Amino acid sequence: MTFASLGLIDPLLLVLEQLAYHTPTPVQQQAIPAVLAGRDLMAAAQTGTGKTAGFALPLLQRLAAANQPVAANSIRVLVLVPTRELAEQVYESFRGYGQHLPLRSYAVYGGVSINPQMMKLRKGIDVLVATPGRLLDLYRQNAVKFNQLQTLVLDEADRMLDLGFSRELDAVFAALPKRRQTLLFSATFSAEIRSMAGAMLVDPVSIEISRPNTTAKAVRQWVVPVDKKRKTELFGELLRENRWGQVLVFVKTRKGVEQLLAILQAQGIRADSIHGDKSQPSRLRALERFKALEVQILVATDVAARGLDIDDLPVVVNFDLPIVAEDYVHRIGRTGRAGASGEAISLVCADEAPLLAAIEAMTGQSLRRDEQPGFEPEHRVPQTDGRGQLLKKPKKPKKPKKPKKPKKPKPALPTAGGKAVASGRGAGKATPSTKPKSPRLAARKPAGKPG
Ligand SMILES: Nc1ncnc2c1ncn2[C@@H]1O[C@H](COP(=O)(O)OP(=O)(O)OP(=O)(O)O)[C@@H](O)[C@H]1O
Ligand SMILES: [Mg+2]
Repeated sequence: MTFASLGLIDPLLLVLEQLAYHTPTPVQQQAIPAVLAGRDLMAAAQTGTGKTAGFALPLLQRLAAANQPVAANSIRVLVLVPTRELAEQVYESFRGYGQHLPLRSYAVYGGVSINPQMMKLRKGIDVLVATPGRLLDLYRQNAVKFNQLQTLVLDEADRMLDLGFSRELDAVFAALPKRRQTLLFSATFSAEIRSMAGAMLVDPVSIEISRPNTTAKAVRQWVVPVDKKRKTELFGELLRENRWGQVLVFVKTRKGVEQLLAILQAQGIRADSIHGDKSQPSRLRALERFKALEVQILVATDVAARGLDIDDLPVVVNFDLPIVAEDYVHRIGRTGRAGASGEAISLVCADEAPLLAAIEAMTGQSLRRDEQPGFEPEHRVPQTDGRGQLLKKPKKPKKPKKPKKPKKPKPALPTAGGKAVASGRGAGKATPSTKPKSPRLAARKPAGKPG
């Protein structure tokens, strides 16, 4: 199959030839004709399989064919995305694919001055890529109007429809024309989001390229069990031993990102970070430097998990597992894109076992465990059953049975809280597998706010 056979026009085919896109990917093969026909669409396809061109190419073609001038402050296509970096990237894609067409694209997002955005919108824009908060600000200041809007795209649709954005999105949806084309794209759709999404589409085409929530095929994944306090040391060891080049490292909290960054930089490693506490220019600069190979390691929160396309990124490390299982699929999908292969390594400590179990159940795969010599955890990571449960009793190492010697009766020890207080060497060091879960681990604090 070729792009020409999908009915794309010459100005688009010319660009695809320059980009050396020889064959449409499976999601493009199905999405392009459906979008050209004006249908609503819910498309699930793995990370890195060209979903962006799957909506951008046919939408550019429809806009060019309609040949309606866009009025002042109006827009014809709105693409909503969850992060500022992704807004910038999707806008660049529209600009690139549409370079031979007389259409205007633009991106608006928060963290930067609103005035230049208001100026730019005055002339009208054919394709506006936006994050919801800033779009709403612009709408409330009458800088953007939706009366000419023909298509709404939710990229990373499941993320856009989850609770985090609901307040802003409800307000945006209320302002959009009811008659419009709506397109939803993501690599993951939970059952709940799927039914919510269904309600906002009219007679939709449903595209399902593989089993739901599948990780990218070309990413080799494994887990290294480790004690929490030794993760940083283990990361350094893996970095040296594997001679990793470029690595994207995900850490759960902003504070955690900065701590790891400081340690790496103190060791003379070229590293930078992305998270929600940094200014927008420094976030964009960090990503640019990473893409340009000026820094070797980018440490990030989940703000970098979705959609970002970094050419030939070879390795993703989950320093911490994500709280939301879907984010695992997106994080590791930053590697193994566009036919390339990649590796994703997760450093997992005992209290992350429930997260690991949830990830395995959602993706329908058990992750291989590979202990690093010298880093075998004292607190064993419980085994998982592949269906989201922990196996309660991890196998104990077998010891040869010795005949028991009769013990001398000991005097009773002083007690605390009704329990015997252990003392002496090895006290409190009983193998965790034989000990009940420590209350500190069981009652974990809620995770810090990612992003
Ligand atoms: N038909 C094609 N042939 C070759 N490369 C392609 C093709 N389509 C897209 N690409 C390239 O594949 C890469 C991934 O595309 P894209 O970012 O659209 O993936 P995605 O499916 O949106 O992934 P994610 O779920 O992570 O957002 C990009 O670098 C893009 O240029
Ligand atoms: Mg994408």
